[in-house]
Amino acid sequence: MSKVQNLEDGHIESRDLSSHAIIAGLRSDFWKKIICYESVDSTNEFALALSLKSPESRTVIIADSQAKGRGRLGRVWVSPPGRNIYMSAVLIPEIELRDVTFLTVAAALACASALRSKTGLIANIKWPNDLMARGKKIGGILTELRSGHDKIKFAVVGIGINVNSGGEDFPEELGHIATSVKEETGRYYSRSGIVAEVLNELEQRYEKLINEGRFPLLEEWRILSSTIGKRVRITLCTEVLSGLAEDIDKEGMLVLKLASGERRRISAGDLTELR
Ligand code: BTN
Repeated sequence: MSKVQNLEDGHIESRDLSSHAIIAGLRSDFWKKIICYESVDSTNEFALALSLKSPESRTVIIADSQAKGRGRLGRVWVSPPGRNIYMSAVLIPEIELRDVTFLTVAAALACASALRSKTGLIANIKWPNDLMARGKKIGGILTELRSGHDKIKFAVVGIGINVNSGGEDFPEELGHIATSVKEETGRYYSRSGIVAEVLNELEQRYEKLINEGRFPLLEEWRILSSTIGKRVRITLCTEVLSGLAEDIDKEGMLVLKLASGERRRISAGDLTELR
């Protein structure tokens, strides 16, 4: 683990991110611990290691920067200091393993809703869980879990949102596909305020998932999906498919209609929206 400094007391160099300010913005006592660090390798890795020792549901790990931030499909998540949100929420949900997708969906919907209320930005969701603004990626979710005997031991829901990054912060190859709240709105935002709102919104959707099941989230996901109705190309392990993204089904799979008329249900892959 790289330089780790516990900033639980709020002594953070970046003044717009502190656990005190985040806690002040929470609407309930659902979240039990909010811990901010200056730098960790990855908040997901940190939360996983912590939970393997003693899993504490409703704990949130946040870092000002990550040395080895990770994204989906083994990618690197660019995580410079002083700019963006890198956070991981530990949850121990009493749901079936097959519903775990909907934890990720709950987080993506929470981020979209928080961005809208805090910054006015309209974000939508590219299947499966990329947070998009005007066709560019503004955030992403990576859920990792440990389970046994068909039961979830704990889940770590990792959330990355590009808040105050400028174009110069993105590596050249990401420049045309990534964006930030600042790039989209022309304004800098306090990260604590957005983190608190993401947690408020996540709490609400998490409770919904536990109490009412996946369907309310599925409905909201379909509404916020940028993918449904588009022509798409999906790269899978052994093939590349193109077709019309017709729907997201009740398992969270993408229903793809191929040129032949055949329908394929895709559980995961790297998707590009063509138009
Ligand atoms: C994606 O590829 O879209 C998922 C990106 C998830 C990034 C976040 S940042 C906080 C948490 N810690 C990590 O190492 N990754 C997730």
